[in-house]
Amino acid sequence: MRKVFLLMVGAFLLMSSLVYAGPHDDCTLCHGVHSGQGPVILTEAPNYTTINPKTGKPMKRIGALCLACHAEEPDGAGYRPVDLNHTHPVGFRPDPTKVVLPAESRGFPGEEEDLTCNGCHNQHPSNTNYMYLRWPSDDGGDLSKFCVHCHPKQSNEEIKREAGVQ
Ligand code: HEC
Ligand code: HEC
Ligand code: HEC
Ligand code: HEC
Repeated sequence: MRKVFLLMVGAFLLMSSLVYAGPHDDCTLCHGVHSGQGPVILTEAPNYTTINPKTGKPMKRIGALCLACHAEEPDGAGYRPVDLNHTHPVGFRPDPTKVVLPAESRGFPGEEEDLTCNGCHNQHPSNTNYMYLRWPSDDGGDLSKFCVHCHPKQSNEEIKREAGVQ
């Protein structure tokens, strides 16, 4: 009986370790309940030091928050740093004749027409897509299914059909 019980405990522990755990799982990584700063009580002070080559200026609000952690030290915390010189253009107001910016990609008031980091990502643990992307990509195996949401003009009918985009 004791053996069966131990086996059950073992199976439970194994299963719980298989449940999806992402690097953003802890709410208090980003939100300080009684110690937050700025909009949405974030723990990190925004990074207004890193210059965005696309605009020649620092990123605004949400981009500056992401870069507080995701830029090289000392400007950011150096977690999986992204280098804006080698990144898809970000932090500007796109030309609506070239791309589609879906409603869920819109930023904060005052920058709702801009493409910012969370135009492509939704950083919350509720989002189980690969790399916290806003749309599925077969776990990174087919990123075309992700790109098509803003780039239908560059995609073909098959990609659109698979992603459910008009
Ligand atoms: C990686 C950083 C990060 C983590 C981790 C995170 N948040 Fe957020 N949260 C943000 C940012 C940035 C915003 C503002 C942009 C937006 O709304 O997505 C935000 C906005 C919010 C909002 C207001 C907008 C909305 O979605 O309704 C709530 C509520 C919230 N977070 C709760 C949570 C909770 C609860 C958790 C843990 C389960 C969590 N957050 C984890 C970064 C984070
Ligand atoms: C308070 C710090 C913090 C903030 C703010 C933050 N992140 Fe993260 N993020 C992390 C950490 C820590 C990791 C895991 C790093 C590692 O694997 O070494 C991570 C990982 C990621 C990953 C990789 C996910 C994976 O599955 O491997 C993505 C994508 C990401 N963050 C996007 C964002 C975006 C977009 C924002 C802004 C909306 C943001 N993060 C804001 C701390 C942060
Ligand atoms: C949330 C919307 C969005 C998603 C998703 C998206 N893009 Fe873009 N993309 C844009 C915007 C906005 C522009 C700039 C359009 C303009 O010139 O105003 C752009 C421009 C580009 C450019 C031109 C770059 C330049 O320097 O002019 C390329 C190439 C590109 N995207 C590739 C991709 C690829 C590949 C993916 C998928 C991995 C992707 N995009 C996903 C919105 C998006
Ligand atoms: C046009 C869409 C788009 C925009 C805008 C965008 N990302 Fe990403 N991001 C992606 C995609 C797609 C991946 C996964 C790339 C891959 O796996 O090949 C990714 C991966 C990442 C990762 C994981 C990198 C790693 O080392 O594994 C981080 C962190 C991240 N993004 C943060 C950011 C931050 C911060 C911003 C804003 C400055 C941003 N992203 C803007 C599409 C985007």
